[in-house]
Amino acid sequence: MMICVWLVLLYTHITSANINNVSYTIRIYSNLAEIIRPLDKLPLEFADDDWNHIRSDSITLFGGNVNIKLQTITEQKKALNGTEVYIRSPISSDAAIKLIKGIIIDEANNIVKIHDESIAGQQALYITVPYNQIYYLEEPTKPKHYVNFTYTASDSNLFVSYLQSNLNWRTQYQLNLNHNESDLIAMANIRNDARSSVFIDQAELICGDINLQIHQIQYDRSFRKYRSGSESHNQQQANSMQTVFADTMSPVIVEQGKELAGLYVFSIEQPFIINGKANYLLPMFHPQVSVERFGLISKTFSTMPMHGKAQRSYRLRSDQYLSHGNCIIREHDRVVGEISLPNLAANDKYEFSIGEDANIIYKENAVLISLSTFNETESMMKDSLEKNLPLGAPITRARYIYTIHLQVKNFKTREVQIEYEQKGFHSYNTVKLVTIDNDQFIQDGSSIKSNITLQANTTENYIYTVELIR
Ligand SMILES: *[C@@H]1O[C@H](CO)[C@@H](O)[C@H](O)[C@H]1NC(C)=O
Ligand SMILES: *[C@@H]1O[C@H](CO)[C@@H](O)[C@H](O)[C@H]1NC(C)=O
Ligand SMILES: *[C@@H]1O[C@H](CO)[C@@H](O)[C@H](O)[C@H]1NC(C)=O
Ligand SMILES: *[C@@H]1O[C@H](CO)[C@@H](O)[C@H](O)[C@H]1NC(C)=O
Ligand SMILES: *[C@@H]1O[C@H](CO)[C@@H](O)[C@H](O)[C@H]1NC(C)=O
Ligand SMILES: *[C@@H]1O[C@H](CO)[C@@H](O)[C@H](O)[C@H]1NC(C)=O
Ligand SMILES: *[C@@H]1O[C@H](CO)[C@@H](O)[C@H](O)[C@H]1NC(C)=O
Repeated sequence: MMICVWLVLLYTHITSANINNVSYTIRIYSNLAEIIRPLDKLPLEFADDDWNHIRSDSITLFGGNVNIKLQTITEQKKALNGTEVYIRSPISSDAAIKLIKGIIIDEANNIVKIHDESIAGQQALYITVPYNQIYYLEEPTKPKHYVNFTYTASDSNLFVSYLQSNLNWRTQYQLNLNHNESDLIAMANIRNDARSSVFIDQAELICGDINLQIHQIQYDRSFRKYRSGSESHNQQQANSMQTVFADTMSPVIVEQGKELAGLYVFSIEQPFIINGKANYLLPMFHPQVSVERFGLISKTFSTMPMHGKAQRSYRLRSDQYLSHGNCIIREHDRVVGEISLPNLAANDKYEFSIGEDANIIYKENAVLISLSTFNETESMMKDSLEKNLPLGAPITRARYIYTIHLQVKNFKTREVQIEYEQKGFHSYNTVKLVTIDNDQFIQDGSSIKSNITLQANTTENYIYTVELIR
């Protein structure tokens, strides 16, 4: 299942040693990137450092009706057996270190053949040498990894694709609030965790609920998919993090997001370079947002007297899709909180709280007005007869009527909006708000809610009645 829009994009992977000159398409996800490049030669060769970040089970070919018959992955390292080395003589003291020539016989076990006349005359000795006492005459090489394919294809226009975990991105936001103005700034934070720089000519940033695993997916016997802590950004937290803001001389623009099968794709058409171990921040879309502020009193029902403070809460709507990401909130240029925004559809609302508001406090007291019992034998009999079930024992139910006395104080010198929510009637079978004179309170499912406007420096008392059946 591949998205068959082949854009020929240029992406050059620059390493200190060599420069590949192949065209790449790159699609960056929150935890990894998919790299697609035309197939030029087989076998594919990967350096050890790169290989550690590649999901080997993701390497594949596509295009030209390719039919893969066999795929092989091999690791090759220059053999050291038979090479000449120096080792520290076993009889040398710390004061007089003596190096003697030897030949590696078995590199895996560090067995070296030596001739040391002071020990054994002309006879060869075979000794196991600690790895840090072998001195090589050549620069040790790291293994290379080769991927080969045996395939048939209708044409030669083939592409190689694989997932690589050292390139990823996330959205980060700043929400600046000032009186009734709100401004949401979105930045794409692209992280290159490799040691080498990447030159990206064109890229796509993809977001949404995508469960790509950095490591090969593990299945247990019941074939349940393990979901790793999906959106971890541990890599971004590296101490050596270096942040590069987009060069203002040649602005790199992240295009408006496009919806694609429930995901969002943001394209970048200009070339840019991200240094190794660096973060690259690009401005993204700039949505129109509306933000309502309110004090939230959200509590669970209790027969005990309760008191508390309202939460500093916000309700945010954006005219554009928001991809999930951290958001720092500023009120009048001061940081007042931080939240993690979820993926949010255009015009949908997101409500969040960022801490207590010491200036809005409440007290609540539930008073039991009446308690009566009744039994459900009749309804059960009817039910049992209809369903042809055996008769059950009658169940005695209790009906409680509580009057709830709520007091809310606003210590602020301005009017505040408060949203009240009473939840948690879990130990009761049914909850019913008994209508009273005012319509201040409403029932929403098994919660009782109210929107309250409280004038500056005032205290208000509210009463409502609920019928609870257990
Ligand atoms: C890289 O590609 C460019 C343009 O396609 C070409 O001019 C150049 O010679 C190539 N370099 C190497 C090393 O292949
Ligand atoms: C090196 O020699 C040892 C002992 O003969 C052998 O087991 C090993 O496979 C050799 N390694 C290579 C890379 O040839
Ligand atoms: C790669 O596979 C092809 C096709 O089977 C084969 O001809 C070639 O020898 C293989 N190359 C290596 C290095 O194994
Ligand atoms: C807030 O918005 C209203 C109209 O919605 C406007 O009249 C008022 O001036 C705005 N206040 C500030 C401080 O911008
Ligand atoms: C419950 O209902 C049954 C049948 O209608 C009746 O016999 C019984 O007395 C009732 N029990 C109580 C506690 O009302
Ligand atoms: C309170 O106001 C908010 C925002 O206008 C609205 O979404 C919510 O339904 C209201 N709640 C009640 C209980 O009226
Ligand atoms: C708030 O109200 C109290 C009592 O009603 C009063 O003593 C106090 O001066 C008021 N404070 C302000 C800032 O208006």
